[in-house]
Amino acid sequence: MIVFSGCLLWWKGGYLFLPEVLNEWLGFLAGLNLRSLVRLFKKNEKRKVKLMQEKKRQRILLGVSGGISAYKIPVLVRLLITNGFEVQILLTKKAKKFVSPVVLETLTGRTAITSLFSKSVLTKEDGWTKHIHISEWADMFVLAPATANTIAKMAHGFANDPVSLFFMAFGKAKPRLIVPAMDGEMFNSAFVQRNIEVLRSDGVCVLNPEFGELASGLVGLGRMPEPQTIFTEIQKKTSICGNKWKGKKVLVTAGATREKIDPVRFISNFSTGKMGYAFVSELLQHSVQKVILVTGKTNLKKPEAPNVLCIEVESAEEMYKAVSEHFSSVDVFISTAAVSDFKPKVIYEKKQKKTSMNDIVIELSPTIDILREMGLKKINQQVLVGFSLETEYNEQNAIKKMVEKNCDAFILNVLSRESGFETNTNKGTMIFKDGSRIILPLMTKRDMAAVILDHVLPLIVGNK
Ligand SMILES: Cc1cc2nc3c(=O)[nH]c(=O)nc-3n(C[C@H](O)[C@H](O)[C@H](O)COP(=O)(O)O)c2cc1C
Repeated sequence: MIVFSGCLLWWKGGYLFLPEVLNEWLGFLAGLNLRSLVRLFKKNEKRKVKLMQEKKRQRILLGVSGGISAYKIPVLVRLLITNGFEVQILLTKKAKKFVSPVVLETLTGRTAITSLFSKSVLTKEDGWTKHIHISEWADMFVLAPATANTIAKMAHGFANDPVSLFFMAFGKAKPRLIVPAMDGEMFNSAFVQRNIEVLRSDGVCVLNPEFGELASGLVGLGRMPEPQTIFTEIQKKTSICGNKWKGKKVLVTAGATREKIDPVRFISNFSTGKMGYAFVSELLQHSVQKVILVTGKTNLKKPEAPNVLCIEVESAEEMYKAVSEHFSSVDVFISTAAVSDFKPKVIYEKKQKKTSMNDIVIELSPTIDILREMGLKKINQQVLVGFSLETEYNEQNAIKKMVEKNCDAFILNVLSRESGFETNTNKGTMIFKDGSRIILPLMTKRDMAAVILDHVLPLIVGNK
């Protein structure tokens, strides 16, 4: 074989055209001796091992409870396994009636846990019986389908089957997802909705059921989403979002402020803090380094996790002080609090009595604009997200506010029966500095927090 310096190859008595890339590769090989080839091979192998170590397989603890849609679970497991996840199955006693442990064991290559007292659960180490080590092992907990019964057990702290026990022992800082599936009337019942709300407020993600034909033959909201949809949600909650939020510090303000008139009265608004708390729950699913929540008075349960600092404040002034103290250390500031725009000029020391039927006049002065102040302090790497609740849709006004306050994104909410104050749902428009916008259709506040965070991620320097 003769290799010409150009691109022609003399082979079996004729010329062949040799593409440039191939030509270079052959020349490279011709220059190598056996020893350097072995070295190259070894180096490649080492690189492969290093890459495999770096890319640790994500481990999913997949609980299955006794609903008809459990028949779809082998497809979900197959999707997870072929995409590099390790899966450990937990089955309730009733789940075994709907899906065979043998099928799931064959797909996962692991013994399915069907009892708290099975050998695979009760392993011994240094003389100790490690019955909850599987919760430590996994990176994410998923329950699909989540029956009304198992949801109730999880919401109320029962732990008498492998699913509820390992759920309880699972760390709050790791993502937990439930996929409720049941008859439409059951799903809409006050019991199920209350229990789901308990789990949500505890930081559990809920993938809502879909509308469609149900096992009962009826049509309604209760159908378990297809395996591909659940798989995408798991993927989102583990590797993709998880890694990108890792190490980030986020400051969130929530709730209403109170501006005192006298020792027993104040000026405030109807904000419940649900939107801000939804951000905290969602961020905790993404392995952030720290969440600092500065909250006005709310009836919501304060988030408890080692990486959450919760600061309770009352007035706009107090909120400003707490935010200012922590602002310089964070990557992202999400301002959802409904900060009072005005405060009484004078705070009476004693309760003002109704001594006559005369009007009384309270003079008001503007409070400090926290978002604007942080916009002034903001350095390039920091991302500022503002919220504005209006009584009418006015995008131009929202854009003006966003620019004035030096925000990177602004969410415009319009007050209605189903969005804004005292609701579990919200809708609006997310507007960005570059003029682009996305519509946020009616959804739960938790889902909205997830969507907004997905759009905030690319704004953080280094994530582009
Ligand atoms: C045919 C059939 C289908 C069922 N499908 C569901 C369902 O989709 N969702 C649900 O919450 N319960 C469903 N149930 C009721 C549960 O199986 C029952 O509440 C059981 O106690 C759940 O136990 P587990 O949560 O421990 O798995 C179904 C029951 C039967 C007989």
